[in-house]
This record gives sequence, structure tokens and C-alpha cells, in this order.
Amino acid sequence: MSTDSRRKDEHLRYAEITNSAQQRQPNDFAGVRLLHQALPEQSLAEVDLSTSLIDGLQIDYPFYIEAMTGGSKKGGVINGQLASLAAKHHLAMATGSMSIIFKDPATKPTFAVVRQQNPDGVIIANLSANASVDQAAAAIDLVKANALEIHLNSAQEVVMPEGAQDYHWLTNIKKLAARFPVIVKEVGFGMTKETIQLLADAGVAGINVSGRGGTNFAAIESLRGKRIGASGDWSPLFDWGQSTVESLLEARSTNHQQATVIASGGVQSPADVVKAGTLGASAVGVAGFFLHHLQTNPDGLDQLITSWRQNIAAMMLLTGCQRFADLANTPFVLNPQLESYVRQRHLTR
Ligand code: FNR
Repeated sequence: MSTDSRRKDEHLRYAEITNSAQQRQPNDFAGVRLLHQALPEQSLAEVDLSTSLIDGLQIDYPFYIEAMTGGSKKGGVINGQLASLAAKHHLAMATGSMSIIFKDPATKPTFAVVRQQNPDGVIIANLSANASVDQAAAAIDLVKANALEIHLNSAQEVVMPEGAQDYHWLTNIKKLAARFPVIVKEVGFGMTKETIQLLADAGVAGINVSGRGGTNFAAIESLRGKRIGASGDWSPLFDWGQSTVESLLEARSTNHQQATVIASGGVQSPADVVKAGTLGASAVGVAGFFLHHLQTNPDGLDQLITSWRQNIAAMMLLTGCQRFADLANTPFVLNPQLESYVRQRHLTR
């Protein structure tokens, strides 16, 4: 197995270990309160769960399977399982980073399986921020992707024993965004309003804030480093970054024009999905929590997705919303800690 394929397997294993309740950082969703509308004045049948992931790309449900894997035998198996669930439930799904196919073309089938299992679904290809236009076109072609995710993972790379040293990405992102429907995403450290504004001005179609509170790549890469005997203690970075809630609050103070804001990072419940929508997210990606369920009980994940769909529809009804986008115009209450964050960052609510 190549070093890169082994890294993919270690990500799967260490994500599970570091995502335990004891080790997870707060996702801050508990600090957001939704407001019950005792007079909904609509029927459940009128609730429409579809939403626009990015301009021109409608998805049937507001939550989707976020980028995780591919590039190893195990990753290919998991991608196949996730893709068949995505097909069954009409969920969009992102692949894990496909950069590995350019170093090791033998890994292509571990990504292609996502399209084979889900011929008609919405699939998002994922690449690093220094991918070339040709590489992006090849990755999109391999899975017949409907959109391209470009990940920003500086905090992961600095901890990663074999991580990158150069983080000049914006010029390349502009180039890619001019050619493809690009969603730029973090990998669990969140974004500030300054970053979100730079990305919106770069012309991207979607900005996925992917904040702190779930999968923690500082902890994952630190564990990998220990395994291979790398020196250094990275624990000071284990609570790094903005939570998903903080990042969505940041996004509210930007002029993100045509770009949608997407949430991910620490999403663990249908209420988190609805709260993210209330804070302005057009859709919500779920990675580690679904992976955990898949690895412990695949049938359980199937049932969980069904109940999330029901719960989200009920919560939309009870907040008086017919469409997911309507949530962004409903009132919410923040706990004192988040209220203080809003004040100190000079954010508009
Ligand atoms: C990830 N994530 C990720 N993101 C990305 O853009 N490209 C990738 O290849 C990967 N790989 C990956 C592997 C594993 C095992 C996990 C759990 C996650 C990050 C993911 O898409 C998401 O941004 C973060 O995990 C935060 O969301 P959760 O996990 O807290 O729901």
C-alpha cells in the first residue's frame, strides 16, 4: 500500500477515535435556540426539503454526505456504501480528496464507485487548493461530478508530518472558479468573515465554512505523527479555529453575493441542520457522524437518515417555514457566549 493510501486509512481510523464525545470540541449548536411558532398555518405536505446547494444546483434534502474518503481499498468500500445510501435517500455526496489519482491512477476505481452506485445523484468531486485546471477537469470527469469542492486545510497540513509548506492558494482558486462550479471548504477549523469575503470576491459558487466541533484534523494528524515517531506536541492546536456556529455568524456579516454559504463541522442532529439553516446555510454537510454510524451499524445509518428527514420537516413546520431557505429569515436566540462573540467581532445578527 502506498504512503498516501495508508494515510487515507489512518484518517478513517483516527477520525473515529478522536470523534469520541470526550475528545470533541464544542460545536456551539447548543448555544442557538430556535423559536417555536404555535400557529404554523401550513400543512406538513407543504414543507419542501429541497434546497439550492449552489446557484443552479438543486438538491432534494438540505443535508448531504460530506467529503471523506477514497484512495485506498477500504476507502473504496466505504465510498460504495455511502454512495448506495445517497442513491437510496436522494442525498448529495462529496468524495474525499481525489488528488491521489494523479500520483496513483490505480486508486481511480475507489472514487468511480461513487458514480456507479448512484448514477443519477448529485456528486461533488474534491481536490486540494493547488489542483490545476486539467486535474480538476479529470476529477470531475471520473465521477461525472455536478460540482467541485476545493479544500482549505492549512491547520491540518501544519500538523501533518508530511504536510505542505506553502499555502498560497487564492490565485489558483480564482482560476478554478472561473472554469468550474467551485465550492471552497474548510476541513473543520471554520472561517472568518474576512476569509469568506475573499472567497466570495474570488467568484466561487459556494463557501462551506466547515467549522470546529466535530472531526478534528489537528488531533488526527497528531496521532498519525506519534505513530510514525514524528517529534513535537500539537495538543495546543486541538481547540483551534471557529466553530461552525461562529463561522455562520461571521458569514452573516459578509456580502457573499451569488455564493451560497454551506455549513459542516460537528453536525450531529437534525436540529443542528435546522439551526445551520436559520443562521444562513443553504445546505449542511455531515462527515464524521455519518462515518461513525456506518462503521458501527450501516442499517442504523439508513434509519437515521430517514428519521433526520422526518425531524427536519417537522422542525421547519414548527418554525413556520415551507422552504429551507425560509429558515434564514426566522428569528433565533443566542447564548451569552455567542452573543459576546457577535459583539466582539462586530458582526450583524
Ligand atoms: C474528512 N474531511 C475531508 N475534507 C475534504 O475536503 N477532503 C478530504 O479528503 C477529507 N477527508 C476526510 C476524511 C475523514 C475520515 C473525515 C471524517 C473527514 C473533512 C470533512 O469533509 C469535514 O469538513 C470535516 O470532517 C468536518 O465535518 P464533520 O466530520 O465534523 O461532520
